[in-house]
Amino acid sequence: MFLLKKGYQFESETDTEVIAKLVYHIYLQNPNCSFRELVEQVIQQLEGAFALCFKSKHFPGECVATRRGSPLLVGIKAKTRLATDHVPILYSKDAESQNPDHRPHGRGDLPILPRSDSTAEFQPLEDKEVEYFFASDASAVIEHTNKVIFLEDDDVAAVKEGSLSIHRLRRSLDDSHSREIITLKMEIQQIMKGNYSSFMQKEIFEQPESVVNTMRGRLNFETQAVILGGIKEYIPEIRRCRRLMIIGCGTSYHSAVATRQLLEELTELPVMVELASDFLDRNTPVFRDDVCFFISQSGETADTLMALRYCKNRGALIVGITNTVGSSICRESHCGVHINAGPEIGVASTKAYTSQFISLVMFALVMSEDRISLQARRSEIIKGLQHLHEQIREVLNLDEQVKELAKDLYQHKSLLIMGRGYNYATCMEGALKVKELTYMHSEGIMAGELKHGPLALVDNKMPVIMIVTRDPVYVKCMNALQQVTAREGRPIIICEKGDKETKSFASRTLEVPHTVDCLQGILTVIPMQLLSYHIAVLRGCNVDCPRNLAKSVTVE
Ligand code: UD1
Ligand code: MG
Repeated sequence: MFLLKKGYQFESETDTEVIAKLVYHIYLQNPNCSFRELVEQVIQQLEGAFALCFKSKHFPGECVATRRGSPLLVGIKAKTRLATDHVPILYSKDAESQNPDHRPHGRGDLPILPRSDSTAEFQPLEDKEVEYFFASDASAVIEHTNKVIFLEDDDVAAVKEGSLSIHRLRRSLDDSHSREIITLKMEIQQIMKGNYSSFMQKEIFEQPESVVNTMRGRLNFETQAVILGGIKEYIPEIRRCRRLMIIGCGTSYHSAVATRQLLEELTELPVMVELASDFLDRNTPVFRDDVCFFISQSGETADTLMALRYCKNRGALIVGITNTVGSSICRESHCGVHINAGPEIGVASTKAYTSQFISLVMFALVMSEDRISLQARRSEIIKGLQHLHEQIREVLNLDEQVKELAKDLYQHKSLLIMGRGYNYATCMEGALKVKELTYMHSEGIMAGELKHGPLALVDNKMPVIMIVTRDPVYVKCMNALQQVTAREGRPIIICEKGDKETKSFASRTLEVPHTVDCLQGILTVIPMQLLSYHIAVLRGCNVDCPRNLAKSVTVE
């Protein structure tokens, strides 16, 4: 509104354009300001989350970047070793005069100059040959450098004449005096595609290893001890809580749906599973004796992060489940578990899902450690986890069969996926994979709900996949299967190896090995990952970057 009144015209509907015009407006009014000071004035006018990087023809060779709410990092690439592993924070004039002790060294008796004229600008290097990269995610810069600084909210990073400086307008209470230069351990080959045609395919096939990495150092199969180092000290507090809330979006949410029943069984606590956006819309009551889990692969999902802050403000204990060390959720949570699945590049999440699933199962195991009545159940699950990687390998051998199935399905408009109990999450996650990768309509249907509506969709043309495994709801699933076949549906069935009875109802079957009921969802979701992948390829879709979607959803 302000800019419209000043006569500015806008060509797009994006916030970004407003910011560019705002900075220009401020520049016209203060032509002597430094580039960094202009940006500082701009961000004081902005509301909401942003990560910005400014370049201007009026300030050649300079770049200024800042963030609030959205992630932003600076990668530093130098020919020689860095002279330091910290970059000090410089404060604006007024903050500085209140805290004379924190003046940059060597300027104690000089009058305070505008920062851009100062000689205290920080040069992290002996050598001037240096490049800076600005990105929201480390995987974007890793091919250039493994030295990064994660900026905090309202940091303003400025590059001028080859040196980097980090500024803040004001000092907040828990502020540190510098930002650490972190050396990422990510290997370049670790994030390369190798022999696979896409990152997603590679990540699906990495699951035998990634599930082992999630359990490594945490689960001792001999002694059956489970230790999650990141939450160990909080377990007594968690045991005393009134309820558990698990909050996430998309695939992360599905991992909570998948493990909810086991969490209820092994913690004997009420467990709420929530979509972050809906949870916030409802202004859900949260109390000091609640324990809230936040699940996000990137650790930067905006909705999840906002739900985290909402719960933290209400005094709940905040536990993160993330794949990304140093992410916002990791930093803002009281404690948490890194799922250690390795970098996930494909936009559609695959190995992060199975690792989130296992992390939550391990948490349930920790919570039931001293319950004598639950020992038999625990040990059955731990044995199941021990053999999971071999069984995942077996499921991956279905790849050719799944590809054949994809040829039958890829020209259809819609695909229904039905199941219940431990496999309901697989239906929802499978449908999400199909939607995001193939742009086909797909729906995960709770088999117990068939009679209440969805059965009307079933005829001899509608493709239906049903998941039926030998678990406590097997008989009910068979019942649903008969309801579908009675409407001339010829479902494709994902079932356990050797289940002849179920096979007799199917047009085709995909057989997965048998494991403990509560882990079966890990084995049934993999054929769905493969299927959505093959359908996407047949339909000519970009598997790693589906249209309209981003890997880290850092906006609401
Ligand atoms: C840690 C080390 C791991 C080492 C192991 C050996 C890290 C990142 N992990 O793993 O390299 O092999 O000890 O003992 O250095 N956290 C959050 N929020 C989250 C996730 C994690 O606050 O969302 C915190 C945890 O509370 C913990 C720290 O981050 O303080 C590391 O978590 P995690 O990697 O899960 O811990 P360990 O498995 O013990
Ligand atoms: Mg933390």
